Amino acid sequence: MHGECQRNDAVVLADRFAGSVFGRMIWPYCLGASSSVSSAKGFCKILLERMNTHIVDRPVPDFSSAEPLFAFVSEMLHQGVAMNRHAYHLMTVATLNAEGWPDARVVVLRGWDAAARTLRFHTDLRSPKVQALEAQPRVTLLMYDPVSRVQLRIPALAEVRKGDAWVRSLWERSRPDSRACYAADEAPGEVLATEEPLRDLPLTLDTDNELAFQRFGVVVCTFTRMDVLHLHAGRHRRGRLDWSTSGWQLTRLAP
Ligand SMILES: Cc1cc2nc3c(=O)[nH]c(=O)nc-3n(C[C@H](O)[C@H](O)[C@H](O)COP(=O)(O)O)c2cc1C
Repeated sequence: MHGECQRNDAVVLADRFAGSVFGRMIWPYCLGASSSVSSAKGFCKILLERMNTHIVDRPVPDFSSAEPLFAFVSEMLHQGVAMNRHAYHLMTVATLNAEGWPDARVVVLRGWDAAARTLRFHTDLRSPKVQALEAQPRVTLLMYDPVSRVQLRIPALAEVRKGDAWVRSLWERSRPDSRACYAADEAPGEVLATEEPLRDLPLTLDTDNELAFQRFGVVVCTFTRMDVLHLHAGRHRRGRLDWSTSGWQLTRLAP
């Protein structure tokens, strides 16, 4: 009861602090201070939860076996999907275009399925990357989290899904303001006449907007390999996780 009371007080305090401009500016310093003072650590943890970002609760596993390392990465990816301030909420997707040039762009990580080994993002089907992916589905996904100091480099095969019942269920579950992006008349990357002002998009969009839904695509990236780099005081650590039917295998690599 006493503990609960203390936690509630901390939540109120953390909420006030997180909401302030000052709080947003100094939270990285709180994180640094928290390593030496355990009550400050508890406060910072709640604070970070309220700010929709994360703290690394447990150390990054050493690179001696595959399962704990994969479990750690998997948990971080789940957090990346759920928390929009988590660094893994954004990933860079590298593709090859028709002329053989590498291309890369930032997207939002929308889904992670550890059993199926898939990462998912949403996109406008009219965007140039969709054509590129349909011609060449090999991609590399790249993420770096400065809190845990872990970089992930994931070669994957991308499949563009559109118009089916699963895609519709994701459309219906997506936020109204996210759906609104698909209401633009212009395709992403389309050349615009300089004098022509862009029409504002609606702030939200209902699920029954069929034209916007027809533009909504889900890109599912399936992988069997992941390169994990941990920036570590003294000596960095790096390993390659390879999946086979007997599970994940770890090969340690020089960083
Ligand atoms: C923070 C951020 C998040 C983004 N999220 C997405 C996304 O989830 N899906 C997407 O297709 N584009 C997203 N974009 C835009 C892409 O980076 C890119 O500009 C756009 O998709 C066109 O890419 P393309 O010309 O390679 O097709 C995002 C950009 C930023 C800066």
